[in-house]
Amino acid sequence: MSENKIHIFDTTLRDGEQVPGCKLNTNEKIEIALKLEELGVDIIEAGFPISSPGDFASVEAVAKIIKNATVCGLTRAVQKDIEVAAEALKHAVRPRIHTGIGSSDIHIKYKFNCSREEILERAAKATKIARNLVDDVEFFCEDAGRADNAFLARLVETVIASGATVVNIPDTTGYCLPHEYGAKIAYLKNNVPNIDKAIISCHCHDDLGLSTANSISGIINGARQIECTINGLGERAGNTSLEEVVMIIQQHKEMGFYTNINSKLLNPISHLVSETMRMPVQANKAIVGANAFSHSSGIHQDGFLKADITYEIINPVEVGAEESKIVLTARSGRSALAHRFHKLGYQYTKADIDVLYDQFLKVADSKKEVMEDDLNELASAYGKKEAVV
Ligand code: KIV
Ligand code: ZN
Repeated sequence: MSENKIHIFDTTLRDGEQVPGCKLNTNEKIEIALKLEELGVDIIEAGFPISSPGDFASVEAVAKIIKNATVCGLTRAVQKDIEVAAEALKHAVRPRIHTGIGSSDIHIKYKFNCSREEILERAAKATKIARNLVDDVEFFCEDAGRADNAFLARLVETVIASGATVVNIPDTTGYCLPHEYGAKIAYLKNNVPNIDKAIISCHCHDDLGLSTANSISGIINGARQIECTINGLGERAGNTSLEEVVMIIQQHKEMGFYTNINSKLLNPISHLVSETMRMPVQANKAIVGANAFSHSSGIHQDGFLKADITYEIINPVEVGAEESKIVLTARSGRSALAHRFHKLGYQYTKADIDVLYDQFLKVADSKKEVMEDDLNELASAYGKKEAVV
């Protein structure tokens, strides 16, 4: 396996599904899981089997149907959770148990009310139990973003020695700055003697809008797995958005990384997830938002119409989006107006456009967007150069 492959671990069906109102039934999970597999994700976290009988059934159904991706189930560092997860995953071609425990002093004191030493013991025990049931065990060090790096290194060393194949370093509360999160990963690379026996995973939350930047900083510093969700869905402000990290890796080839994702399927799966999880995507969302490839100001439109690379770094075809749009508003210029008339079949000269532009601005000032019907009305009032189609 290449050292520069970034494994994409999708947790839309687990962390994403934790969003209030986004709960999925088994059929919905199966439908999304099949699309995730087609998209090319390496790991699908299908759910938290012990959390409810319904989620157990969903993880089991996903495990049965998915053939190429690894199917993963979440557990606490508790024997019963781990056994139930193994049962739900028993039909998976590639099962993974994702177990873990809090690693920051805040979690150790307030959630577990125990000592650091006890955390190490519980972590080792849970990892060994999981490793006796499946070959692939990922260990999450919850709240690693706020954990003491020296203790985190001991925890990571312990779980790798106990059989963990992947170590997840979550910035659970979305607190870290990118350089800080990157330094944490570098610290683990440099201070955990057995770190080469496991893959380091980034799992970042977006409370400060830094989850994507933190995940990229993580891989630059040695992590080789990113945990993310479609449309960035997830607890509170959400998780790292899959489409963003994948396109950063694809656009910035100089970093030398690659993923297995077919980027042309990003917009179709974004729509499917948004509809199924009843969660609209904000219009200005990178890659998959309705305005991601829309140009509305005159300066941008003029440049874009001369050469698309002036204002677009991604061709919408690359991410399965509709073609770029020239939206007409009161901030649009003559070249955009001429372009839109031309698309409707009107062949106007520059002099015609000069006259029509004044009429257009009157309409544009009275509404948010000038639509096709408005242009047809302007053309018919102008009474010249009828549509040629
Ligand atoms: O954010 C987090 O720490 C998690 C863990 C359960 C992996 O979601
Ligand atoms: Zn999370």
